[in-house]
Amino acid sequence: MDYSEMFSEDVGSFFRSPVREIFKKVDLNAIYSFAGGYPSAETFPLEEIRKTMSEVIDKYAGRAFQYGATQGVPELRQAVAERYGVPVERVQITSSSQQGIDVCTRVLINPGDVILTSNPSYLGAIQSFKSYRADIRGIAHDEDLEAFRQSYEAVIADVKAEGKIVKFLYMIPDFQNPSGESLTIEERQMLVALAQKHNFLIVEDSPYRELRYEGDHVPTMYSLDPDRVIHLGSFSKIFAPGFRLGWAIAHPEILDKIYVCKQSLDLCPPIFDQYVAAEFLSSGRLDENLKHSIELYKGKRDLLLSLLEEHMPEGVRWTHPEGGLFLFLTMPEDFDAVRFYDKSLDAGVAYVAGEFFHPDRAGKNTMRLNFSFMSPERIAEGVKLLSKLLKDEIL
Ligand SMILES: Cc1ncc(COP(=O)(O)O)c(C=O)c1O
Repeated sequence: MDYSEMFSEDVGSFFRSPVREIFKKVDLNAIYSFAGGYPSAETFPLEEIRKTMSEVIDKYAGRAFQYGATQGVPELRQAVAERYGVPVERVQITSSSQQGIDVCTRVLINPGDVILTSNPSYLGAIQSFKSYRADIRGIAHDEDLEAFRQSYEAVIADVKAEGKIVKFLYMIPDFQNPSGESLTIEERQMLVALAQKHNFLIVEDSPYRELRYEGDHVPTMYSLDPDRVIHLGSFSKIFAPGFRLGWAIAHPEILDKIYVCKQSLDLCPPIFDQYVAAEFLSSGRLDENLKHSIELYKGKRDLLLSLLEEHMPEGVRWTHPEGGLFLFLTMPEDFDAVRFYDKSLDAGVAYVAGEFFHPDRAGKNTMRLNFSFMSPERIAEGVKLLSKLLKDEIL
């Protein structure tokens, strides 16, 4: 049967995640993998989870396995509201922040509408934006605040001249995936002021916010304009991604549309998982566990930075993230990280080429390295091997 005539026009805009394609090809445990964004399994508190699951069954009995409210179970909404200091009517539980991104796009975007984002940006968000046929404009970071603002103004002026509409700005202000970099308070204020001036919304995606290893806490973009910013959070990096739970914090009118949209997606987020997360949060176990995760990841980040310093050839630069799970490498101009990938994988080391994170396919000479997944010993071996391969290629 020929199915090609059967699919919707949207399907033509779907694209496969190159990161997930890598996972299909190789056994991540058999190579040195800097590729995925997997948390370390060491951060999953198995015994505490076992105890909490059993408490949830004792406390909620059959309710823990029944359908529930589309907005999320009241206990978890309340716990999230208290943790982030927002009214409970502003909290929608999502089946993870990937769903948060997808529902925001679905309720806001018509085909051809413009989404502004950083260049590079999160691949899963780019996939979602493309699937709704959004027009994505990536804008590179500039250390100079005024030049940064002008880059945005120039793109917005282009969009208006084309008769198109900027619907929202998608940003990962804290320890970005892929670059690991964060926005300063001045940059956040500048972007919020731009959104106010040109009347678009902001989707602030911040799954790494609580994984800070140094430096001062910076206010969320949401706190700068709670009626214009949709804040997305996730339990994936602070608890465990297998629960597939996150949250959206936004104005109730926006949440109402997301609520109706989610009715057709999943009826409700997983109930048992929500009760477990609620118990974990309100009992203080989540914070206790988070302390250990931060300590572990800080050690791995420091190790990776010092190994790069020691082994990388001249001409390679990298970011110094204050938190999160990634850093970003930039090689000399003529380096092609996609072409180099097979050689690297054959030798036993995986990364993600930076080009995939650039909506405009720039960044050919960049790559993302994850430091949460591997053990310190394997990080050390992996960096030595990658550095040697790069030396052979570049020098
Ligand atoms: C920036 C960003 N947003 C969202 C997600 C999706 O996370 P989850 O759906 O597990 O909450 C990720 C995952 O790596 C991410 O890096």
